[in-house]
Order: sequence, then structure tokens, then C-alpha cells
Amino acid sequence: MKAIVYEEFGPPDVLKLMDVEKPLPKDNELLIKVHATSVNALDIIFRSGASLLYGVTKLMAGFKKPKSKILGFDVSGEVVSVGNDVTKFKKGDLVYGAGQNPGANSEYYCISENTVALKPSNMSHEEAATIPDVACTAYTGLIDKNSVKETDKVLIYGASGGVGIFAIQIAKLFTNEVTAVCSTDKLDQAKELGAKEVIDYTKEDFTKNGQTYDVIFDAVGRKKITFKSCKNSLGNNGIFITVDLESVLFKSIFSKRISSYFAKVDTERLDILRNHIEAGKIRTVVEKTFLLSELAEAHKYYEKGHLKGKIAIKVVE
Ligand SMILES: NC(=O)c1ccc[n+]([C@@H]2O[C@H](COP(=O)([O-])OP(=O)(O)OC[C@H]3O[C@@H](n4cnc5c(N)ncnc54)[C@H](OP(=O)(O)O)[C@@H]3O)[C@@H](O)[C@H]2O)c1
Repeated sequence: MKAIVYEEFGPPDVLKLMDVEKPLPKDNELLIKVHATSVNALDIIFRSGASLLYGVTKLMAGFKKPKSKILGFDVSGEVVSVGNDVTKFKKGDLVYGAGQNPGANSEYYCISENTVALKPSNMSHEEAATIPDVACTAYTGLIDKNSVKETDKVLIYGASGGVGIFAIQIAKLFTNEVTAVCSTDKLDQAKELGAKEVIDYTKEDFTKNGQTYDVIFDAVGRKKITFKSCKNSLGNNGIFITVDLESVLFKSIFSKRISSYFAKVDTERLDILRNHIEAGKIRTVVEKTFLLSELAEAHKYYEKGHLKGKIAIKVVE
């Protein structure tokens, strides 16, 4: 099968199109014919070999050489065979999900049956492949970790990127009071996705406008905002939730008002998301679609850092 392979850590040009052996599913896995995949922050971390989270990312990606030579966690495609212990899916099912191990930047990918669900029927594979990692990240932070309530005022910081576009829509399922912070050319998109208020961070510092929120959800990370910088913008019991594990992992153990977490991608959450997608309450925004052979270009595009939504990778042309 064709796959994009990287033999060493480095810039996007380490990604090369090659012929490799088709993988075989383990007992609890599905073999998926990949129709589409996407690019996520973790792909970039794995490809570059960056040591983050006290070396945990090196442990996952490999120390000197990549452990797994194929990247890609998100997938949308068709089940072509199943392992002996698989009970939830069968050959021919159209599914979407994200693996715990990479490998979806290829024509076939083996993935645990527990991290996929039936694909939303009203989406193309390219659209569906942009959902699992980032939407489950937003869901884990806002709902599993914090249970946003009807009365909550929620601010989403970084409301235009992959996690951010889903954070707006997931918060909006529970409360009308959603404020989105993003740059100028993405303000209209944030409103269309359900934000009641929008703040252009290039013109206004939300921490200085006197407003307070019950939840501030940082969907950017990289310490662009911190609990300390947002403290005056949080109500009495307000909570600061961040996708940035590195800066607050230890602080969040000792403070009820700081929350950081690993995203949970599983069938249950993907089923919930699919139901909202099919009901027209959640959608994706695909800024650009690349072919599998153009993956290096897609990584370069992602790394510019100002996406309007997601990048999709089309595998079946
Ligand atoms: N904890 C977890 O389990 C988990 C899981 C997945 C992802 N993550 C993390 O989540 C973060 C976001 O991932 P993503 O895929 O959504 O990234 P993304 O699509 O690249 O989005 C990042 C967004 O950040 C905004 N941004 C950049 N600089 C900014 C600044 N100075 N101030 C405000 N906004 C700024 C950009 O919007 P503008 O164009 O408007 O500037 C961009 O749309 C990453 O740090 C990733 O590592 C964590």
C-alpha cells in the first residue's frame, strides 16, 4: 500500500510517499481502508521529535528514530476486516475515529474498535476525518472535566482553530452565553458557529475589559494565556481549562480552578458528536484539503499556525 513514511525526525520534508506492507489487525482492531485523514498538533510533535511533557512525547514518538514510521491519528474510512475479538463493527461499516497510535497517513490503518464510531451520514470522509481528535479534545475539556451548565458564561480563547471551532459549538449546546476570542478575519465564522459575543484579540485584551466568565477555555495552549493572566476575568468559582498540559499539569492537581487534561477519544464521545452532527448542531470547517502525496505541504500549511478550522487529507481520490 502507499503511505507517507518518515525515517527520521525533522521538518516536513522528512515525509516521503512510499510503498509499504499493509498492516494486519490485532484481535481488538479493525483494518480500515482510509478515505481521509487530517493533520493535528500531535502529528507535528511526533514528526519533529520535540521533547514535551517532561519527555513523554519522546517516549511515545521515539528517542533517536521514529517508533512508528507513519503518522496520522484521525481517520474516516471503510472497515475491510476485523480482528477475532471485535464485536461492535463489521466489514463494510463506514467509521470515523482516532487511534492511540499513529498510522492513518496511509491507504490502510489498524485501529482499536474502542476509538471509532459510525461516521456521520451527512458528512464526506474528508469532513469526518477532521472531527475526532479536536472535537473530543473540546468535549473532554468542557463537558467531561467541567460540565458546562445552562447558566454559565463561557469564553473560548483560540476559537478559530481545530479545537476552538468545536469548543464554541459544544459549549453552545449547553449555554447561550459563549464568547469567542480570535483574530479579525475569523470573527464572522465564530458568530456563525454560535458565539454570542466575539472579541478580536489583535485589538482588545479580554482580560482588561471588566467582564467575568464561569469558564475560560484556552484552546491555543503554548502559554498564550495562563490562569494568572485570566484570574480577574474569572467569576468567584470560575475555572480555567487549558489544552496545554505542559504548563499546568502539576498546578491542576492542587487547584480546583485550573484544569488540564488528555483528550479522551472513544466510541461513546464519537457517537454523541455524530448525533449532534446529524441533528445539524455541530459542523466542521475545512479550510483546505490536500492529497496524501501532499502531506509535507499540509504540515507546512498547518505550522503557519493561523488556520480557519481544519486541514483534511484526501486518501481515496
Ligand atoms: N490536551 C490534549 O489532549 C490536546 C489534544 C489536542 C490538541 N491539544 C492542543 O490544542 C492546541 C490547539 O490545537 P489545534 O489543532 O486546535 O491548533 P490550531 O488548529 O493550529 O489552532 C490554533 C489557533 O490558535 C490561534 N492563535 C495562534 N496564536 C494566537 C495568539 N497569540 N492568541 C490567540 N490565539 C492564537 C489561531 O487563531 P488565529 O488565527 O485567530 O490567531 C489558531 O486558529 C495545541 O496546542 C495542541 O497541542 C491538546
